Amino acid sequence: MTSPILVTGGTGTLGSHVVPLLRAAGRDVRVLSRHSRESGDNGIEYVTADLLKSEGIDAALEEVETVLHLAGGPKGDDEATRNLVAAASRAGVRHLVYISVTGADTIPLGYFRSKLGAERAVAGSGLPWTTLRVAQFHDLALKMVRGMAKLPVVPVPGGLRFQPVDSRDVAARLVELALDKPAGRVPDLTGPTVYGMADLLHGYLKARGKRRPLLPVRMPGKAGRVYRAGDNLSLADTTVGNRTWEDFLAERVG
Ligand SMILES: NC(=O)c1ccc[n+]([C@@H]2O[C@H](COP(=O)([O-])OP(=O)(O)OC[C@H]3O[C@@H](n4cnc5c(N)ncnc54)[C@H](OP(=O)(O)O)[C@@H]3O)[C@@H](O)[C@H]2O)c1
Repeated sequence: MTSPILVTGGTGTLGSHVVPLLRAAGRDVRVLSRHSRESGDNGIEYVTADLLKSEGIDAALEEVETVLHLAGGPKGDDEATRNLVAAASRAGVRHLVYISVTGADTIPLGYFRSKLGAERAVAGSGLPWTTLRVAQFHDLALKMVRGMAKLPVVPVPGGLRFQPVDSRDVAARLVELALDKPAGRVPDLTGPTVYGMADLLHGYLKARGKRRPLLPVRMPGKAGRVYRAGDNLSLADTTVGNRTWEDFLAERVG
């Protein structure tokens, strides 16, 4: 019997793609969630734990050698990751794989700072590790443009660019990394195309057969300057996913 791979965030958008891929690779999976769930006889076991409250983590790590740490939220990823790292060190974990975000070290916003704090906790843990930074998922871009397109006139911050990536491409890469040797920081993963905010909106409106006037606005402050400079983008030494924003829209919206 091989030891189960612990997947934190296995119930989330990304995790729901990762778990079946690990099963398809023949690995038993243990999913850590804050909400209790029945485990079936399909090789997927659910354990209840809260990384932020530091509850249940030691039990979740019993007999685990590899951890795929995908759990995250708008804030507190640094603290949650420190809690996980401390427990993983006690448990003698042999490979900790972490997902971070492109721009973690450049964008002066709380979410990015906490991802950077989490990256540092992983790299400084003394455990063998792999960290992959990825761009925004198509799912998130869709949520964003869907919300914006509800307005009769849509304010569009100028100069902001994104490289949205399909969460299925991210899942496939993470599984590959988890089943391989610890590699430290690996090349970032982005989608195949760079889009302005207006491009993302146009794609969505076209797929919905809608029209909306766009009103160019300027994102204020330091974050605006950093985004306009493209410091959120990853353009060199980058792995690129296959599925485009247009492919995703055709499946989900078209
Ligand atoms: N979405 C993006 O565009 C994007 C881009 C780059 C990187 N990322 C990173 O990718 C990862 C997955 O993102 P996602 O969009 O798939 O997230 P998601 O759908 O919002 O799911 C979040 C997951 O985190 C778990 N979680 C949250 N707080 C937790 C806590 N205190 N203890 C234990 N588990 C907790 C949730 O589990 P339960 O609710 O079952 O407890 C859930 O499975 C995150 O680390 C995120 O920062 C996302």
